[in-house]
Amino acid sequence: MKTVILGGYGQLGTALEKLSEEPVVALSRKDADLTNAEPLFAKLESLSPEILINCAAYNLVDQAEAEPDVAFALNAEAPARLAEWCEGRGIIFVHFSSDYVFGGDTSRDVPYREDDVPFPVSRYGESKLAGERNVLAACKQSFVIRTCGLYGPSRSPGKGNFIKTMLKLAETRDELNIVDDQRCTPTFTKDLALASHQLISTSTFGLYHATNSGSMTWYELAKEVFRLQNLPTVVHPITSEQFGAAAQRPAYSVLDCSKLSQTTQVSMPSWQSAVERSLKCPQNE
Ligand SMILES: NC(=O)c1ccc[n+]([C@@H]2O[C@H](COP(=O)([O-])OP(=O)(O)OC[C@H]3O[C@@H](n4cnc5c(N)ncnc54)[C@H](OP(=O)(O)O)[C@@H]3O)[C@@H](O)[C@H]2O)c1
Repeated sequence: MKTVILGGYGQLGTALEKLSEEPVVALSRKDADLTNAEPLFAKLESLSPEILINCAAYNLVDQAEAEPDVAFALNAEAPARLAEWCEGRGIIFVHFSSDYVFGGDTSRDVPYREDDVPFPVSRYGESKLAGERNVLAACKQSFVIRTCGLYGPSRSPGKGNFIKTMLKLAETRDELNIVDDQRCTPTFTKDLALASHQLISTSTFGLYHATNSGSMTWYELAKEVFRLQNLPTVVHPITSEQFGAAAQRPAYSVLDCSKLSQTTQVSMPSWQSAVERSLKCPQNE
């Protein structure tokens, strides 16, 4: 089925395009800006996709505290318009959301299921939650896939992620302080792209969680990256409070992916295997 990917040059868009065996058009922000509706929909009409995948997003979690309108425009309002457009034409719409729709339950220590009540603790999380609700309300043939801490190669130059940042910092620093009180499951885009393809082929629409399996803190992930790369960088655990980011993050946002595995009959690989495989890929494409 003819597929169009918006935000197609970002990390996930790059992985989805690479994996696709179907005819696929990946559009960059320059080709199709989600905040400029008229040329966007003219472009989409001319391409007449059967599946529209939206990987474009405002992902600047800290900056969203200062400019929530910008985050909501891209993460909530644009997906609503896209979902309506798909609904009117019988097009399947695929949209991605975030584990940051959770976090307000501070005593949580078991993975979140799709039917748990969201409780974001940041403006970014609120904007992603509004987006997923808008999409599910507007388009019956939609998939909304919540994921976490993506890393993988990207066609768009200069796209950062946690692993790239660690490797860059290790070039100049012998010791690093990394947050150890946020437990989640950062995910390799290649694994998420494969799971998304498998899910889309089932036509079992709705809300899904999709991350690698297991869980870690950012401190644990940094240590694993340096171990696998044989780097001598020493990592010290610190608290989120000591780090002092502008936006609050969930202390626990591990996602239960059993609905995905029951639907697709495929389990997501462990985070350890994902990190190891990702380090063997070139970081930019
Ligand atoms: N990254 C994460 O850690 C993470 C975690 C949880 C969920 N997610 C979700 O997963 C999805 C994919 O994320 P990702 O990591 O692939 O993001 P990404 O690498 O930042 O890619 C997003 C793409 O969207 C494009 N974009 C930004 N503003 C746009 C606009 N106004 N119109 C059209 N395109 C625009 C960007 O273009 P430029 O290249 O020009 O900037 C970029 O290529 C998103 O929905 C995201 O919210 C991501």
